[in-house]
Amino acid sequence: MTSSEINNFDTRLLKIALNIARRGIGLTGPNPSVGCVITYGQTIIGRGCTSINGRPHAEIVAMEQAKRHYLYQTSEKKEKINVYTTLEPCAHDDTTPSCAKELIKFGADRVIFLLKDPDERTQGKGANILKSAGIDCINAKIFKEEMLDIVGGYLKRKKENKPFVSLKIASSINGKIGTIKGESKWISGDLSRKKVQLIRSNHDAILVGKKTVLRDNPRLNLREEYQNIPQKFVFILDANLSIPYSKKLKIIKFNQKEKIYVFTKKNCDKAKINQIRKLGLNPIQIGKKKGKLDISEILLKIGSLGINKLLVEGGSSIWTSFIKEAFFDEIIIFWGNNILNGTAMPTFNDFLPVNTRIKTFPRLKLKYIKNWVDDIEAVWQPTTQET
Ligand SMILES: NC(=O)c1ccc[n+]([C@@H]2O[C@H](COP(=O)([O-])OP(=O)(O)OC[C@H]3O[C@@H](n4cnc5c(N)ncnc54)[C@H](OP(=O)(O)O)[C@@H]3O)[C@@H](O)[C@H]2O)c1
Repeated sequence: MTSSEINNFDTRLLKIALNIARRGIGLTGPNPSVGCVITYGQTIIGRGCTSINGRPHAEIVAMEQAKRHYLYQTSEKKEKINVYTTLEPCAHDDTTPSCAKELIKFGADRVIFLLKDPDERTQGKGANILKSAGIDCINAKIFKEEMLDIVGGYLKRKKENKPFVSLKIASSINGKIGTIKGESKWISGDLSRKKVQLIRSNHDAILVGKKTVLRDNPRLNLREEYQNIPQKFVFILDANLSIPYSKKLKIIKFNQKEKIYVFTKKNCDKAKINQIRKLGLNPIQIGKKKGKLDISEILLKIGSLGINKLLVEGGSSIWTSFIKEAFFDEIIIFWGNNILNGTAMPTFNDFLPVNTRIKTFPRLKLKYIKNWVDDIEAVWQPTTQET
């Protein structure tokens, strides 16, 4: 439904701003990806997306472009300057003045945004600064679902101090993720694996369990057309530091060492901790819950590092721990076109007692489905998602 204060043209321009914001998903560091469009009357004179790692903000990028446009430079101002931005302009001065103050200097007549910024430094203050300067500032409150797709991770971290969590799984037709010997390359096809690169690029960090590292020695990096994107943070769950950490480990070889974090139990062997520190990795000691590293504590730690979206890439034990405590926001499954033995590795281990009735097991909402040649990609979400 459209807000009464905005017209069809405004709605169209907000949609363009949304599409621009999509370009920055996973690239803007702890900041949300924002899209901004500026018009002089009905002519677009500036566009901007939040820059890599978060600064400059989208509004600044769009204003810089607009300032070079001949319509902005004309001495006689005949039309209004409208600013369409997906998030409320910020109110806090950093190394540069806030976007709200810059928009006033720029000469904006109307500012329309989609969502109030939950950042405590802005939270309505950006809109108030603009209104106090006599600018017509409107919170359109539309495209809520689209906004959730773009800034869902940022909103969740601001609310719960934890990242948005996606579990990413490749399984056979019969729900197996590897043979009994632990072979899982490749259950899904080439196109599915290409899509996984895009999914990685849309997240800020990847998490894996100890046995996946030991058995698969995965690279977990961005490759091919994504190789120029800054590499993601990598988190490894290894309570006793049983992985032989060395430069030969592909995760270390193909990622920035300072972005690799290893979660271990408290009181872990000091010599082992020092050894991984020497390699340039970051050990973090975490408490245990029911014999396993406490996922809630891990997520709070990951949130405190400014990670908005976390991709959990396996294996079964790790996904099961996330499922058991409902610590996930979506499950992305790629079904390859193969059928493995019944004794092969299951996607999830048991997480409820064996006599649990079907009605008690989690049921999810199907959000997206697509086929990649003979594979199927499906995304499910818990039924209680909200902004
Ligand atoms: N098809 C796919 O999409 C896919 C993706 C990834 C992996 N895989 C396959 O999955 C297999 C590995 O799966 P897996 O289940 O054996 O091992 P895993 O999930 O990779 O790792 C499990 C280990 O992680 C450590 N861990 C630390 N905290 C944990 C927690 N809270 N919950 C669970 N584990 C925790 C535990 O060892 P400590 O207690 O010693 O820390 C545990 O034994 C590999 O063969 C791999 O090929 C398939």
